[in-house]
Amino acid sequence: ARGALRDTFGRTASDLRISLTDLCSLRCTYCMPAAGLDWLTKAQRLTDDEFVRLAAVFVDLGVTSIRLTGGEPLVHPTLSDLVYRLAALEPRPELSLTTNGVALDRHARKLADAGLERVNVSLDTLDRERFAQLTRRDRFDDVLGGIAAAADAGLFPLKVNSVLMRGSNLHEAPQLLTWALRHGHRLRFIEHMPLDADHTWSREDMVTAEEILDLLRHAGFALTPAPTRGNAPAEEFAVTAGPRHDEWATPVGSLGVIASVTRPFCRDCDRLRLTADGQLRSCLFAQDETDLRAPLRAGASDDELAELIRAAVAGKQAGHGIGAVDFVQPRRTMSAIGG
Ligand code: GTP
Ligand code: 5AD
Ligand code: SF4
Repeated sequence: ARGALRDTFGRTASDLRISLTDLCSLRCTYCMPAAGLDWLTKAQRLTDDEFVRLAAVFVDLGVTSIRLTGGEPLVHPTLSDLVYRLAALEPRPELSLTTNGVALDRHARKLADAGLERVNVSLDTLDRERFAQLTRRDRFDDVLGGIAAAADAGLFPLKVNSVLMRGSNLHEAPQLLTWALRHGHRLRFIEHMPLDADHTWSREDMVTAEEILDLLRHAGFALTPAPTRGNAPAEEFAVTAGPRHDEWATPVGSLGVIASVTRPFCRDCDRLRLTADGQLRSCLFAQDETDLRAPLRAGASDDELAELIRAAVAGKQAGHGIGAVDFVQPRRTMSAIGG
C-alpha cells in the first residue's frame, strides 16, 4: 500500500464514487431536460478493464469503500461482472450502489451474489402519477419492486433517498417516512443542490432540513438527534413515535437528513469521484478535473497514476461554497458527475 490520500485541510480520502455511465433510464425534472443530455460516446467512457485498473490504484492509496453511481449504474451492461472484479481487489473495498431502482428487481440477486453489499435507491414520491410527472417515466411499480427485491436479496437495510420540492412532493414527507419505517428501510431526505442541467435551483425555493423536520414533528413524529455522523453526509435521527392515528405497536426506526446546503459536511468529507470518462473530481462542486483516462490509455504506470491522484487530492477545495457570492455551479450536472 502507498499510504493515505490527504488534502491540505487534514482530510483523508477513503471513499471513491465511480460514475459508470452518464445515461439514465429516468428523466427527473430536477436533474435533466426531457430530451436528455449530450451523452458521452462509447470511446469516451472507460471500459471495465480501465475501471478496475484505476480502482486498484485507488485501493492501494487507501480507498476502503467504492460506490457505483451514474447516471444510472444499472444501465451499465456488465455491472455484476464489474462488481465481482472490484470485490476481488485486495484489500477488498466495501461495495455499494446508488440507483434509481428501475430494473433493480431483475439485477438485485446477481449483484448481491457478485459481492455488492449495500444499495441506496432514490424515491421521491409514493404517488404513481406524481412519480411519472417527476421522472417523466411511468416506472413507479418497477421501482417499488426493485426495492423489495433488493431487500430480499440481502441488500438490507437499504437506504432510500428523497429530494423534497415545494409545490410537488413536500407534503408527502410524513407518508414517505411511515412507508420506510414499515418496510425497515432507512429514509434520507436530501436538500436540493444546484447541480441540474436547467439551472432551476434557487436558495429561496429550496426545502431546508429544518423545514422538513418541523413538518414531520407537526405531523406527529418524535425525532431525536442520534449522536454519530462520522464521514457520512446524513445526520441521523431516531424516530421514537409516529402520528397518533397510526397503528404501529412500536414505531421505531431512524431517519437521515442530508443537509448539504444548510449544514454542509465538507469539513469531514472523505470522498473522491471518478466520472465515466475517467476524470477525477476531488469535490462534487470542483471546477477542475484531473484527466486519468489519457495517461491510462498512453500506458502510464501505477506509480504515475498514483501521483496524479495524490496531486488532485492535495488540491481539494475546503468546501462547496453554495450561497457564496462567487459560487459557480460545476460545468457538468449531477448525472454526469455521479450522485
Ligand atoms: P452512504 O454511505 O450509504 O451514507 O451513502 P451516501 O449517502 O454517501 O450515498 P448516496 O449516493 O445515497 O448519496 C446521497 C446523497 O448525498 C446524494 O444524492 C447527494 O445529494 C449527497 N452527497 C453525496 N456525496 C456528496 C458530496 O460529496 N457532497 C455533497 N454536498 N453531497 C453529497
Ligand atoms: N440535489 C440533491 N440531490 C440530487 N439528486 C439528484 N439531483 C440532485 C440535486 N440537484 C439525488 C437523486 C438521488 C441521489 C443520487 O441524488 O434523487 O437520490
Ligand atoms: Fe433522476 Fe438520477 Fe436519472 Fe437524474 S440521474 S434523471 S436524478 S434517476
